[in-house]
Amino acid sequence: MTSAINEHDQVENKDQGSITDIMGNGKIAADVKYALNGRSIVFVGIMGVGKSTVGRRVARLLNMEFVDADTEIELAADLSVSEIFEKFGEPYFRTGERKVIERVLGQGQQVLATGGGAFMDPETRDSIANKAVSLWLDADIDLVMQRVSRRKTRPLLQNANPRKVIEDLMETRNPIYAKADCRFESHDVSRDIIAAEIVQLLNQKLVEIPASSAEQTNLQESK
Ligand code: S3P
Repeated sequence: MTSAINEHDQVENKDQGSITDIMGNGKIAADVKYALNGRSIVFVGIMGVGKSTVGRRVARLLNMEFVDADTEIELAADLSVSEIFEKFGEPYFRTGERKVIERVLGQGQQVLATGGGAFMDPETRDSIANKAVSLWLDADIDLVMQRVSRRKTRPLLQNANPRKVIEDLMETRNPIYAKADCRFESHDVSRDIIAAEIVQLLNQKLVEIPASSAEQTNLQESK
């Protein structure tokens, strides 16, 4: 038991060094939060990719609230996602999902992880575009399959060939996920490192690139 705790601590400590390297002395997180200017961060992407676990860590790094849309839907309905699908069907779930995301986005700045189908809804995409910076958390199918096989709570995968379901969903949904403001390709490192890399990506998109194009504009204007 003790050795398991020590091993865990060692992993955390090992990652901590890399996370500090990626995040610097806190300036990156402060700059990203400032550049968000009150907007939320919304994670979109296929089920199992890690939107909630990574989103929670990004929220911690940025000192923001974290909200999981599926959990909010479950609380509002007092039923699990599987039970909602089973008792009322998918269209009912989708209506509830749209309403809950709209409500959550109206509650101020936060990091929000959405269910894999939420971004397919044009109204939800509009609300996200108005109130948030969206991030497509992408991954290859093998990584996704490794993760979804750990839990049996996803109604769309209660099926003889879940890999085929995920493949088909990726084919139809990826072009829509690609409408998000930025895309991060997940890879096989700890969720803590992924979260730090995402904050770094947000820093590039929201702080560094806008600053360098403003400099260019100033240069052009002063010519
Ligand atoms: C769904 C994804 C699930 C959940 C529901 C439907 C989808 O969320 O909303 O089972 O359509 O892809 P996660 O992406 O969090 O698993």
